[in-house]
Amino acid sequence: MQIHSLLLGAVALAFSATAVAQQPIVIKFSHVVAADTPKGKASEFFAKRAGELTKGKVKVEVYANSTLYKDKEEMEALQLGAVQMLAPSLAKFAPLGVKEFELFDLPYMFDDYKELHAVTTGPVGKALLQKLETRGLVGLAYWDNGFKVMSANKPINVPDDYKGLKMRIQSSNVLDAQMRALGAIPQKMAFSEVYQALQTGVVDGTENPPSNLYTQKMHEVQKYVALTNHGYLGYAVITNKKFWDGLPADVKTALDAAMVEATKYANSIAKEENDKAMEEVRKSGKSEILVPTAEQKKAMKKALLKVHQQMADRIGKENIDTIYKATGFDPSKL
Ligand code: LMR
Repeated sequence: MQIHSLLLGAVALAFSATAVAQQPIVIKFSHVVAADTPKGKASEFFAKRAGELTKGKVKVEVYANSTLYKDKEEMEALQLGAVQMLAPSLAKFAPLGVKEFELFDLPYMFDDYKELHAVTTGPVGKALLQKLETRGLVGLAYWDNGFKVMSANKPINVPDDYKGLKMRIQSSNVLDAQMRALGAIPQKMAFSEVYQALQTGVVDGTENPPSNLYTQKMHEVQKYVALTNHGYLGYAVITNKKFWDGLPADVKTALDAAMVEATKYANSIAKEENDKAMEEVRKSGKSEILVPTAEQKKAMKKALLKVHQQMADRIGKENIDTIYKATGFDPSKL
């Protein structure tokens, strides 16, 4: 009898050990935008490929639209290990201790995705991801969103039009300086709160790539959308270093491969997603689309260039110079 129950116990133990061994490693991937956006789609793509390439050893659960955490909370959750992956916009890394990521927010720094990629895949981009390791994080990739438009309830064509407008921004001091250079009053605010803040008049306007504007229905509460393309918004995919370093080698290799694929995918759809979103905004007829003339664009550039110098201490003059070289940006030509 005793032997029998011992045997039973051993069998039960063996079973639960196998069950434990077969439990997939769960990666909670939290983000703040809609599923139907470049980041939303890329995170789903990564989840699918991570499952396939690890043969089910990893299960990535994607939580879109701030359903799990808002901007600030998701950063804390990652550091505490409550989630394992995020893709915050590059404007949101100062609280993590790497404020130099804000160089991507510099107005009119990048003319197109090609110039942008010259930086993300070059020494500056690589060094920034590397720097995250000193903060207990691993930077896995850069994912594109796109170039930002401005919106408000009055026409915004030239710097003067922004005077006194309360403009929602992400938590970047470069963006703060940008709005101040236009005479606007910047208001840092979590992404999940923007629609309501626009609707109730807590802020007058905002900036974002069309994919975010459209999927959050911001255009329904903004009378004007100006196609300024004055700055870039993209992401760094990050994970908790302790978690990442603790993964079995074969799992890590497979996840790296899934991330390479997801990054290619993200960057291949970003422009089209934004073009489509802008087309939807246009079709909706809810807001008037303003296309800046060459003169208006020049005036905006002139007003905003000083932000590059103002922020040189914060993000590193040598970083700015390296980017000027990589993109062929010539401030004297403005
Ligand atoms: C914002 O807060 O406007 C963006 O960072 C949202 C996002 O993740 O694209």
